[in-house]
Amino acid sequence: MKQCVLVCQNTSCRQYGSAQVLRAFQQANVEVRRSGCLGQCGNGPMVLVLPDEFWYDRVSPSQVPMIAEQHRQQGCPVRPWLYPKFHPDSAR
Ligand code: FES
Repeated sequence: MKQCVLVCQNTSCRQYGSAQVLRAFQQANVEVRRSGCLGQCGNGPMVLVLPDEFWYDRVSPSQVPMIAEQHRQQGCPVRPWLYPKFHPDSAR
C-alpha cells in the first residue's frame, strides 16, 4: 500500500484547526489527503498515517514537519505524539 497521510476535515476537527494542519502537510511535500470523520471527534485535529496506521491527536501545524519527516522513514512514528487510545505504549 502506498504511503499516505489522512487529515480529518470534518466539523469537529476543523474547529480545532485541521485546515491549517492539512496545509502544513501539503507544504511538507508528503502524500496527503483530506478525510471525512475518523471517528475520534473531540480529539482533533486527527491525523492517520497509512499504511503504518499511526494515529496522532490534537496535531498542530508546528508538529507537522517532524511527523512528515518520520513518515518518510516508514515505520518510525513520533512516539510522544501518538494517540494514546490506539497507541497505549506512547510516551505520554
Ligand atoms: S471530526 Fe475529525 S475525527 Fe470526527
